[in-house]
Amino acid sequence: MRTIQIRLAEIIEALSKALDLTEGQPPGHCIRTCYIGTHIGREMGMPDDQLQELYYTLLLKDLGCSSNAARICELYMADDLSFKRDFKLVDGSLGQVLRFVLGHTGMQAGLAERFRGIVNILQNGGKIATDLIQTRCQRGAEIARQMRFSDGVADGVLSLDEHWNGGGKPVGISGEEIPLYSRIALLSQVADIFQMSAGREAAIAEIGKRADTWFDPSLCTAFARIAGRDDFWETLASDQLETIVLESEPGQQAIMADDDYLDDIAAAFARVIDAKSPYTSGHSDRVALFTDLIAEEMGIDEDGRRLLRRAALLHDIGKLGVSNSVLDKPAKLDDIEWGAMKRHAEFSEMILSHIGAFADLARIGGAHHERLDGKGYPRGLTAEEIPMEVRIVSTADVFDALTADRPYRAAMPISKALAILWEGAGESHDPICIEALQRALASADLERLRDEDTAETDDRVAA
Ligand SMILES: [Fe+2]
Ligand SMILES: [Fe+2]
Repeated sequence: MRTIQIRLAEIIEALSKALDLTEGQPPGHCIRTCYIGTHIGREMGMPDDQLQELYYTLLLKDLGCSSNAARICELYMADDLSFKRDFKLVDGSLGQVLRFVLGHTGMQAGLAERFRGIVNILQNGGKIATDLIQTRCQRGAEIARQMRFSDGVADGVLSLDEHWNGGGKPVGISGEEIPLYSRIALLSQVADIFQMSAGREAAIAEIGKRADTWFDPSLCTAFARIAGRDDFWETLASDQLETIVLESEPGQQAIMADDDYLDDIAAAFARVIDAKSPYTSGHSDRVALFTDLIAEEMGIDEDGRRLLRRAALLHDIGKLGVSNSVLDKPAKLDDIEWGAMKRHAEFSEMILSHIGAFADLARIGGAHHERLDGKGYPRGLTAEEIPMEVRIVSTADVFDALTADRPYRAAMPISKALAILWEGAGESHDPICIEALQRALASADLERLRDEDTAETDDRVAA
């Protein structure tokens, strides 16, 4: 079997762009935060091995972010992406929080529903925010460990929202009890958000304003020194920043990823994708399983199967950029919402295409909703333009969507799902793939395969 070695930082930088989409942040937020934070670390005289851990903590700080998107959407009756973006500008003072809650809760809901939502948030706001942040931080730390990062990185992600004065969440630890990587990540994140929305001076002022409350004062001093240098800001605004951050990975040696490690990263990141919506829980894993069953049945070799499993795990990565108000809507989508839903395939391609070694995965991710008759999206490709790899993953994808619960209908039995696939054979999906799936399912223990289902689903495949 062939073996490859690629830079871990290249993969993590690309995946961080998917995290930016989920947080509703302008593209490159995690990369800019990484640039700012590693400068602070260097200014503080941190040794190389710690700087390297800090570097990955900064890129991965939002790993758990998708896990609270659905809950935010439900509680605040709001679009989770703009909610998260705007919430980062709030400093926690009562006036600002009230303005935020009144301005963001249930703007598209009826008046009575909106009022109930606001009262709930005002009465239970502290508890709700603590729960949301706890879920996010714990999940992020768990996924960082699954990606083979050290306890230092995982703990850095875990305590991202703790504040120097003990007023942060979820635990309320203070001062040097908060891991240094978390302290640097919080400051760097706020600095980037303010410099992007209001400019350099606003970022400097905001960091100064929150020194001693949110931030470690010694880090604020280090930041002030860095912020006095024009070249720091010029590089931060450069369109070469991604390459600069990649090339400046601290440490004696850049960390490399082999094929086994890439498999682990894909599996871990699938959890970020699936955590976005209660209806997609477990979807990526199951699509990978069905994909592998089809591929094995078709006699595809081990290298090909490995690529297909990874492609299946990451095919919906672009869903991180779709609001939960669309993903979880229990009714028919209107034209605008449907347009937003369809964009996830383009987002998948865009994110995966940033990783040289994932070019095939990008192609599959971008095309998994294409149909043989040319009526798919986003490009409306025709049969001869849709390679077998795409046909396999899209068959597995639809089979899982049909046999799992959706926001607007319950899961259907395997026999009915196969019947639906056969109805569209040659038009939507390739009969060779459907046949292979049917054969594989016939020889597998079907009850066991579907028994682990809870409440899970994927795309609105019928539309
Ligand atoms: Fe999809
Ligand atoms: Fe999917």
